[in-house]
Amino acid sequence: MRTQVAIIGAGPAGLMLGRLLDLAGVDNVILERKSADYVLGRIRAGVLEQGTVDLMDRAQVSGRLHAEGLVHHGTELSFDGDRLHIDFTDLVGRHVVVYGQTEVTRDLMEAREGQTIYEAEDVSLHDFDGKPFVTWTKDGTTHRLDCDFIAGCDGFHGVSRASVPEASLATFERVYPFGWLGILVDKPPVAHELIYAHHQRGFALCSQRSPTRSRYYVQVGAEEKVEAWSDTRFWDELRARLNPETAEALQTGPSIEKSIAPLRSFVAEPLRFGKLFLAGDAAHIVPPTGAKGLNLAMSDVAMLADAFIEYYGEHSPVGIDFYSAQALSRIWKAERFSWWMTSLMHTFPENGAFGRRIQRAEFDYLAGSRIAQQALAENYTGLPG
Ligand code: FAD
Ligand code: DHB
Repeated sequence: MRTQVAIIGAGPAGLMLGRLLDLAGVDNVILERKSADYVLGRIRAGVLEQGTVDLMDRAQVSGRLHAEGLVHHGTELSFDGDRLHIDFTDLVGRHVVVYGQTEVTRDLMEAREGQTIYEAEDVSLHDFDGKPFVTWTKDGTTHRLDCDFIAGCDGFHGVSRASVPEASLATFERVYPFGWLGILVDKPPVAHELIYAHHQRGFALCSQRSPTRSRYYVQVGAEEKVEAWSDTRFWDELRARLNPETAEALQTGPSIEKSIAPLRSFVAEPLRFGKLFLAGDAAHIVPPTGAKGLNLAMSDVAMLADAFIEYYGEHSPVGIDFYSAQALSRIWKAERFSWWMTSLMHTFPENGAFGRRIQRAEFDYLAGSRIAQQALAENYTGLPG
């Protein structure tokens, strides 16, 4: 088998890259380790920047997003119960759209024209400094795909980054000593907008997926096990971290999904190794506080798709040569913002009383400064590509 671009991973990055290449007439094949149902069953991000919405438009997959996505003109931060409204539209003239990663993935899967091979086991990357090819096994048979380029869109634990010799790769990492315990529930959201809450007991987030489905998170220790968290324990802990009015308004019910995600900041450099390119979580991880993970994956593949399209359309290597530096410049800004918002909103017992006072001062500064609020709004709604 032969193709122009072999894409590893059918998460949002791989599927969007495949879609943009299909629309431009660039032949591609996606290899995915899991089944389509498994990929759709993962509950992850929920907030789309305008740039991601624009990309869904460009990919001609935005019908449902415009019909069902919830436009949010602002968000609420709270610190020990004190509330601060951040009005994105007033501050920077932009907004975000609440539309789950599951839905983005479904829309891209349904539109897919090129070939996707699900349940591809033991995917291996070969000769990406020369004539690249990929091998995998399916139903006990080994297959081979020759290609011009390989796009590694296979997430943090994928094979693509792991295939690069260690000496060629620099990595930068911060692992936080906590995770997010999240639940999904078929109850209306507690508020129209998202609420990011700092409390002595830990961070909490009130998010949503639709007018009838809510997503809530609480900060938990890195060693916590989901089995230790009954629904009742979760609701009690969430209520304790919200301001009393919000806690009162919270509608609870049986969880339909419950999971713990660890928090990490991570960047690999560079993003190109001969004919292999990394994009999305394969290249970087942000802690979820700034809602940047999915959006960053999308902006990477928008740049990478343009680079491939330029290569095939204009016989120019400029785009593929520039991809790594261009993408990393945006990635580091999103890393900075996600780290900053994580540092402000979570509890860090190891930082002691001084650390908490600094966090309080940061919140008070934000509350009193339109310029500081504009910086938050500018980053949250998405920096330009
Ligand atoms: P992924 O979505 O990870 O997709 C990679 C794909 O590659 C997967 O389908 C995987 O099965 C496949 N794959 C892996 N290895 C191989 C292999 N060897 N061969 C073939 N295929 C392979 N972001 C937020 O903004 N808010 C959140 O609340 C949030 N929650 C998250 C919770 C979890 C548990 C995780 C892991 C991430 C979360 N994120 C969140 C981040 C966000 O979901 C990611 O940034 C986004 O999914 C990145 O998309 P991607 O396509 O790059 O990677
Ligand atoms: C969601 C996740 C986030 O990380 C975030 O910052 C906002 C919303 C969510 O899953 O809904």
